[in-house]
Amino acid sequence: MSAGQKKITIDELQTGMFVVDLDISWIKSPFLFHRRAIKTKKDIALLKRSGVKQLTIDLDKSQMEIDPAASDAELLRPEQVSGQFIADNEAQNDNVSSEVDGEQPGRREIATPELSADSLNNPTVLLDEEMGRAVILKKQAEQAFNEINDCIEQKKVIPVRKLQPVIDDTISSLLRNSQALLTLMHLKRYEQKLFAHSFSVMTLALTLGIQQELSEDELKELAMAALLHDLGWAQLPLNLFGKPQKYSENEKKVVYQHQKIASVLISKSHHVPDKVRSMMMKHHERLDGSGYPEGLLEQQLDTMDRILILTDYYDETIHGLLDGPGLIPSEALRVFYKEAVQNKLDKLLVESLIKLLGIYPLTSAVELTTGEKGIVVEVNRDKPLNPVVRIMYAADGRPLLNPQLIDLEHDEQKRHIKTIVGEIDETTDPQHLLVNEV
Ligand SMILES: [Fe+2]
Ligand SMILES: [Fe+2]
Repeated sequence: MSAGQKKITIDELQTGMFVVDLDISWIKSPFLFHRRAIKTKKDIALLKRSGVKQLTIDLDKSQMEIDPAASDAELLRPEQVSGQFIADNEAQNDNVSSEVDGEQPGRREIATPELSADSLNNPTVLLDEEMGRAVILKKQAEQAFNEINDCIEQKKVIPVRKLQPVIDDTISSLLRNSQALLTLMHLKRYEQKLFAHSFSVMTLALTLGIQQELSEDELKELAMAALLHDLGWAQLPLNLFGKPQKYSENEKKVVYQHQKIASVLISKSHHVPDKVRSMMMKHHERLDGSGYPEGLLEQQLDTMDRILILTDYYDETIHGLLDGPGLIPSEALRVFYKEAVQNKLDKLLVESLIKLLGIYPLTSAVELTTGEKGIVVEVNRDKPLNPVVRIMYAADGRPLLNPQLIDLEHDEQKRHIKTIVGEIDETTDPQHLLVNEV
């Protein structure tokens, strides 16, 4: 416990106290974020009802009426004894609080909007600003993911609680400006495949989950299932994960075991809810029974199952993690739409995904009506035909020393996207400026 933190019982909890940990599973917590200011007596009642008996508070962040007889009064700094509750804005800052391992010194706290589907279309923070935080968040997630893999190797119980701050912070980032993490998930990958895939599936599944107005508990479960869904691959030959050719029958038998292996690996962890286990098992199923391992049908797959199925499939497709070549994002969405019509995928969710990612998804290489070529760096969800594009090649094919950023919605020259550059090769991109880099 760090300085300024104190363990108290639920009966000692007062409004104005800043809670940093509870003695119940994070999944069972009534709040999206464990770390938060207690604003009303209703918050205290909710915690009691959830079975909280003990909790840890951070006195440095708490602002409440001081009882002179309280034994810890001397720990409070004078400026904190205000008798005021924490302002709404500050109360929501817990998502980037310094309890997160690896926090950057001096990192500025920032308000997070309320959980709502509307927030996805109304970013409160500029993309560039959120991008910095998203990069740090991804590093922290990788750390937690590696610790889990170490535990698997050492045959220890998997510490799923380590994922809690990562999931909290991912939701916060998406609510502030979802395009930051969605951009990261589309970039060419250099880190370990399994982590990058799991983190990206979580990012996209949460975005779609927020859009579908899932509850806080459902989002937490969905995120955990997304992060853990391919854990079984840790014990399989990873060269099969993203093999560029079709699997042989023997390879299929091996690969088709990965859900079962994951289920054995998490079997000893008490912090993995049944719904998470069930979603993990179903992530390769399809609505028409053509998936594996059970060949389940649509009535056996609920919205959360379908979100994980779709987002896993999308990330696998755009990063070539299936047994065949990958597809560019717009082509992947086109194929998914066709498969939704064939009732393999949920049609409404596919439509929602297209709405989220745009007709020209992030990192798409595009050619404009002028002949200029560039990359989509920001999607316009209200006007999907008019994203923000970074021009990398002039109309005559010259690479631009200073790439030009244009918002097609407000472009004075009235430029439009003519086509997506599907084949990135020496002819279309001689300087390698269009390859998934933003
Ligand atoms: Fe999988
Ligand atoms: Fe996967």
